[in-house]
Amino acid sequence: MFTSQGPTLRELAVQALSSTEHGYDLLAPKFDHTPFRTPGRFLAATAEALRPLGPFGAGLDVCCGTGAGVETLLPLCRERVTGVDFSAGMLAAAAAGVPGRQEGPAVEWVRADARALPFAEGFDLAVSFGAFGHFLPAERPALFAGVHRSLRPGGLFAFPIGAPQPLSSPWYWAMLGFDGTMRVRNLLRRPRFVMYYRTFPLGGVRDDLADAGFDVRLLPLEEFGRRPDGSPRWRLVVARKAERA
Ligand SMILES: C[S@@+](CC[C@H](N)C(=O)[O-])C[C@H]1O[C@@H](n2cnc3c(N)ncnc32)[C@H](O)[C@@H]1O
Repeated sequence: MFTSQGPTLRELAVQALSSTEHGYDLLAPKFDHTPFRTPGRFLAATAEALRPLGPFGAGLDVCCGTGAGVETLLPLCRERVTGVDFSAGMLAAAAAGVPGRQEGPAVEWVRADARALPFAEGFDLAVSFGAFGHFLPAERPALFAGVHRSLRPGGLFAFPIGAPQPLSSPWYWAMLGFDGTMRVRNLLRRPRFVMYYRTFPLGGVRDDLADAGFDVRLLPLEEFGRRPDGSPRWRLVVARKAERA
């Protein structure tokens, strides 16, 4: 939740009326005091699920923001960990909050658009947290193709994904309302601020990952419990790039 050190309502409104990139530049100094930074229990659950699949050499945090995923990757990777984001403000906050280290993997920050990642076969593990709402469904193929290209043969792309909210949940209606408001905002105002809660469904995401060349597995994140029908509330998508033939 927001704390007294977080952004004011006015600051949030100005951010939402900017482009996605500039909005994050504005929010960056206070981002870690908002609920938008991925909470520690999601990071810890992801690390726990990935640890038996490692150790990894080089790690990549896609849409790293202030570095939540980079910090998660550090104990899992031996060579180096790279955070990539298109907001210069977020990268500056990340570099200030996650200083370089004398020992362990090197940390580096790269400014780039995740829809055109500038890497080729450089990483063994890529993760992403809390950012997929910033991509329209039509942009997913470019995003996933870029991650696939960035990974070495046999590399993994992993991220948590939540089960859809049931109609009976107040969250279902809150997200529907938020997405509707953003659609109206983006019809009426340029530049767009792209942020939607309901545009990243597991079925479509799985298909797009497979089309990009990934072999997809789902690991239940049991710490978040199960729904009444027995399915996990949260899963870790683990998409593997094929080994070289
Ligand atoms: C909600 S923040 C999440 C940050 C961090 N991953 C976390 O979990 O705390 C979303 C981040 O995605 C970045 N982002 C959004 N669209 C992007 C794009 N097309 N290319 C690179 N970064 C992008 C924003 O700049 C922002 O830092």
